[in-house]
Amino acid sequence: MIIANWKCNGSKKMIQNWSKIYKDTYIPFDETFVGIAPPYLYVEHLANSINANGLDIKIGVQDIDVSSGARTSAISVEMIKDMECQFTIIGHSERRNIFYESNKSISAKLDSVGSEVATILCVGESAEENNNKNTKNVLEDQLSIIKGKIMPTNFSIAYEPVWAIGTGNTPTSDEINDIHKFIKDVVQSSSENSIVPNVLYGGSVNDANAKSFFKQENVDGALIGGASLQGKSFANIVNIFNGKTI
Ligand code: PGA
Repeated sequence: MIIANWKCNGSKKMIQNWSKIYKDTYIPFDETFVGIAPPYLYVEHLANSINANGLDIKIGVQDIDVSSGARTSAISVEMIKDMECQFTIIGHSERRNIFYESNKSISAKLDSVGSEVATILCVGESAEENNNKNTKNVLEDQLSIIKGKIMPTNFSIAYEPVWAIGTGNTPTSDEINDIHKFIKDVVQSSSENSIVPNVLYGGSVNDANAKSFFKQENVDGALIGGASLQGKSFANIVNIFNGKTI
């Protein structure tokens, strides 16, 4: 699973160029779930561009709210299904830090999505927590919202150390592998139905370092911010994941 998180970036013109360049760079391979989460406003425009270029890319959203109704600026699960979105990201560190989202609100979002669309729950420690060797405690706390829940099979986790996002710094691939195994174990032991989720890595993934992460046994894909804004580098990363490099 390779997911692009465009955050608050993009324009109609960018989408037009992105789709063409992705199409020229991507080497067809059917088995990987490749998705883009654009800003909500561009969902339909991007879907049209993807279809016009014959690309097999799913569209998703960067976040979701718990219900429809009197909730200014929110979007609901019913709406994203209506727009044929196939996944949502939840709990991104920018939502936690800039918009003050708590484990409690993220848990409510998880419940509201259920298995309606695929969910990618983001977890990750800050630089300070990492320096204090607190990473696993922080992850356990963020994953505590899964305790006792029956998790759908289309549920995944993205491990995104906050200090690695947009900085060019990353943990080593061995460290990432170790943390992903830890996350899988925690989710397996705490979810009611003992699921072992796919775990994506996110944080400064680009087409130069992706291979070293994808080689690791417990890395099931990537969540990509900056490098996904260029159709060429995103397609390169998808090709690398698919083992299709030229
Ligand atoms: P980045 O962002 O790839 O730009 O580091 C990743 C993310 O925030 O999902």
